[in-house]
Amino acid sequence: MQIFLDTADVKEIRELASLGLVDGITTNPSLVAKEGRPFPEIVDEIIRIVDGPISLEVVSTDAQGMLAEARDLAKIHANVVVKIPLIGEGMKAVRQLALEGIKTNVTLCFSPSQALLAAKAGAGYISPFVGRLDDISHVGMDLVRQIVTIYRNYGYPTKVLAASLRNPLHFVEAAMAGAHVCTMPPAVLRQLLKHPLTDIGLEKFLADWRKVPKVS
Ligand code: E4P
Repeated sequence: MQIFLDTADVKEIRELASLGLVDGITTNPSLVAKEGRPFPEIVDEIIRIVDGPISLEVVSTDAQGMLAEARDLAKIHANVVVKIPLIGEGMKAVRQLALEGIKTNVTLCFSPSQALLAAKAGAGYISPFVGRLDDISHVGMDLVRQIVTIYRNYGYPTKVLAASLRNPLHFVEAAMAGAHVCTMPPAVLRQLLKHPLTDIGLEKFLADWRKVPKVS
């Protein structure tokens, strides 16, 4: 299971990457806008910190525009994975990018049929948005399970990147479903580490250790 951080916040990326647990980064236009900084600056810094797949999203909605953006993004660094929205024009772009050897992450996936089509087009990753489905009273994780089954049935090499994860349970369920990657906000990665019994246990061990007589 690979862990990606879903953020464009370089300070957070630097801090959490130091744990040695971050395999890659996903961004989207909203996350980048939140930073209030020029996109190229952010990308340059992320690439220096994380040596793994860095998803950067196109904002064109026609295949030609997506292809032009994707080629420019891919030139930045070999780790760049181009995020393409799951629309018809996006599928045209994904097929062409696969032929050119440019890696893609198909984003905004909300149904198993969309995921199957993205795999047929040659997507490198598919990003089912779990939390956003939960938000509208669907069980978002069912989508991850369905995609994993469908891809296994036909041997598609497209990796399942569980996205829009909002809590540790999402992470555990995605792992149980067989997702290849989980991308999550920094706060969720911090939550994954925490357990109250770990903190209580450590406090007790350290308190007891202080009672051990010193060598005289
Ligand atoms: C995925 O790559 C997206 O950036 C992200 O997971 C969306 O999450 P959200 O629904 O919390 O915005």
